[in-house]
Amino acid sequence: MNKSIVIAIDGPSASGKSTNAKLVAKALEFVYVDTGAMYRTLAWYCRQKAVDIQDPKAVATACKRWKTTLQCIDGQARLTVDGYYPEKEIRTKETSADVAHVAAVPKVRDWMKHKQRECLAFGSLVMEGRDIGSNVFPETEFKFYIDASLDERSKRRAAEGVHENLAERDQRDSQRAAAPLMIPLGAFFVNTSGQTPAQSSGLIIEEMRRRLPQNRSAPPACTT
Ligand code: DC
Repeated sequence: MNKSIVIAIDGPSASGKSTNAKLVAKALEFVYVDTGAMYRTLAWYCRQKAVDIQDPKAVATACKRWKTTLQCIDGQARLTVDGYYPEKEIRTKETSADVAHVAAVPKVRDWMKHKQRECLAFGSLVMEGRDIGSNVFPETEFKFYIDASLDERSKRRAAEGVHENLAERDQRDSQRAAAPLMIPLGAFFVNTSGQTPAQSSGLIIEEMRRRLPQNRSAPPACTT
């Protein structure tokens, strides 16, 4: 049996990480892991339980106590809380506003790192986030950093109906004390400005096919 492989994809908001990571996972038949969704799930849970997200101790306690299960459904990892998967709720404006506070709590980041590493039980992974190559799987050889110009990223967000100050968000993500966004050492840089998802994901897929040992097939990704 082949050893599982982790492709770490990091980058700022609206850089095209999710779109590219999903396409790469599909092409290589790896399991896709959206780590932002895991932080969003905790932010949603805190609001449900009226936990003060400005209070790092209260957030850390909630994270220690919540009852979660990690599953792999149709080639994607998901975190359920008390058996529920809050797929839509984690994308609301409220959750988006709360999540940065939750993601800045060091004990939360330790918990998430542990859970994210547990995903290896599902097989080879394409994991996207802000600290995957630098902190969660620093040992992986397959690190990618995706970016696009601030102007293009702002336009993408606006096209989704979200008007957000991305320069401010970039600054928050890169300057927080715990596992800040950074370009991991040795990462393959992909600039998605002016590129279609097929073009940019194609660069990553091509690079991976070049680097993966010949005849290597991924362990089967989960189907249920
Ligand atoms: O990618 P996203 O917008 O869904 O991420 C939600 C938040 O979680 C965002 O504030 C950055 C943070 N995050 C993080 O700190 N580390 C990760 N590995 C993934 C997301």
